[in-house]
Amino acid sequence: MRKSGCKRRVVCTLGMAIVLLAIPRLGIRLAAAQQDTHGADKLTGNWVVKVPNADGTFRKTYFNLKQENQRISGYIRSTQFYFQIVEGTGGPDGFTLVGAMKDGNTERRQRYEGKLVGGDELHLSTRRRPDTPLIEMVAHRAPEGEGAMPARIPPPALHKVPDNGLARTPPMGWNSWNKFAGRIDDVTVRSIADAMASNGMKEAGYVYINIDDTWEGERDAKGNIQTNKKFPDMKALANYVHGKGLKLGIYSSPGPNTCAGYEGSYGHEEQDARTYADWGIDYLKYDWCGARTLYSDAEMQAIYQKMGDALRATGRPIVYSLCQYGRQDVWKWGADVGGNLWRTTGDIQDKWESMSGIGFRQNELAEWSKPGHFNDPDMLEIGNGGMSETEYKTHMSLWSILAAPLLAGNDLRNMSPAILEILTNREVIAVNQDREGKQGKQTWKSGDQEIWTRQLTGGAAAVALFNRSNEAAKIAVRWADLGVSGTAHLRDLWLHQDIGWQGPEYSATVPGHGVVLLRVSK
Ligand code: GLA
Repeated sequence: MRKSGCKRRVVCTLGMAIVLLAIPRLGIRLAAAQQDTHGADKLTGNWVVKVPNADGTFRKTYFNLKQENQRISGYIRSTQFYFQIVEGTGGPDGFTLVGAMKDGNTERRQRYEGKLVGGDELHLSTRRRPDTPLIEMVAHRAPEGEGAMPARIPPPALHKVPDNGLARTPPMGWNSWNKFAGRIDDVTVRSIADAMASNGMKEAGYVYINIDDTWEGERDAKGNIQTNKKFPDMKALANYVHGKGLKLGIYSSPGPNTCAGYEGSYGHEEQDARTYADWGIDYLKYDWCGARTLYSDAEMQAIYQKMGDALRATGRPIVYSLCQYGRQDVWKWGADVGGNLWRTTGDIQDKWESMSGIGFRQNELAEWSKPGHFNDPDMLEIGNGGMSETEYKTHMSLWSILAAPLLAGNDLRNMSPAILEILTNREVIAVNQDREGKQGKQTWKSGDQEIWTRQLTGGAAAVALFNRSNEAAKIAVRWADLGVSGTAHLRDLWLHQDIGWQGPEYSATVPGHGVVLLRVSK
């Protein structure tokens, strides 16, 4: 049988007619194809979107494209992300790029639509998520090589970094991120230090003033990290903070970029540690973010160890705070890389659901917390306005039961007496700072009511009656359940009152989202 051909005259005629009809269309297609050939590689090149950060630095997104007719390949490097283009179609008049990157166990994807305008501008748009507003941007041609991902430096072999002897109790202080994010600068840090030194917080034990992301500038010709315009002189700032009897903390990433897209410490770990020491820095928060472009989660430990070694080599006591969102069971190795604390979760938000969701999820991690090495369920939101005072008391109580770092995240210059009182409740802080450093655990739960207990020095205990429901509820503690026999001394740490012994059980009505925090001692 022949493979093709006209079996019957009618079919053949029809076929000819279709071919004839198609010829003018073919003509149009050919013309279009010629146009395409014309723009077949017009998108090829290195393109950059530069958005000024108002501190002399830019938020940069690079599109390194190779166009072959309707196919576009290459990569997109956007602040802390590095996407390979896995779907790239279209031409100068309209194209779609889908970038994909591995991030731990998940894959991130980012989609852009764009077109070439006037030969030298790419007009692009994207959405962070399908339900968020369209972000529009204009890219211009950039020199080839600019913005290219640096070569991967293999992770070092694992070893144990000796304990630095710091943070025998959970660090206490303040961090800029929750309230100020990218709007933090030298003047604000100084005034926050002034506030902490004069409003009773310092006396209550708060000492670290930690600058989070967005202080970073570019590197100089020798590779030394510089500050951006918001921080004209970090050494002078450290002197100022030290002059108040406080300590200064800073932030970086093991990746080429930080979460906000600023310069990270990648390939400059020792150099940066020396710079921090020279400036007089006392605390480093080291945030995974940009490192995910070069390393797998399995390599995290080695990468964190690198900075642990670098900090140690400076000879300056610098608290080392690991921030990698609790991935890779960090509590099992955080201490081995010299970490004094390690984040156990993603970012906290100033909302009851976020704070309580994080706080009440920490039960399983209790055994990993000890003097010098603490689980970090993230910074405080107390006073930022998204929760009620009752909820903030729960936040403070829970973080104290958990032996969590107490890093205030509000505007210390401007807070109500009630918020200041929550942050400086010395009886609650004494629970947090108990020198045995044992993290508390849930010892009873019924529906939305939970009792958590933390063992304290000298055989005492902190017992928290938490009510996670919206409505007030009566919660009873049976002392025998907690191993308390006979009578004991009871004190309510929010009312600052001793409570008479009421027999084998103590019960209290706890407001919705509230807490009754007791100290029980013989
Ligand atoms: C991450 C961290 C936050 C904060 C920001 C800064 O999201 O988890 O605590 O440091 O980065 O960019």
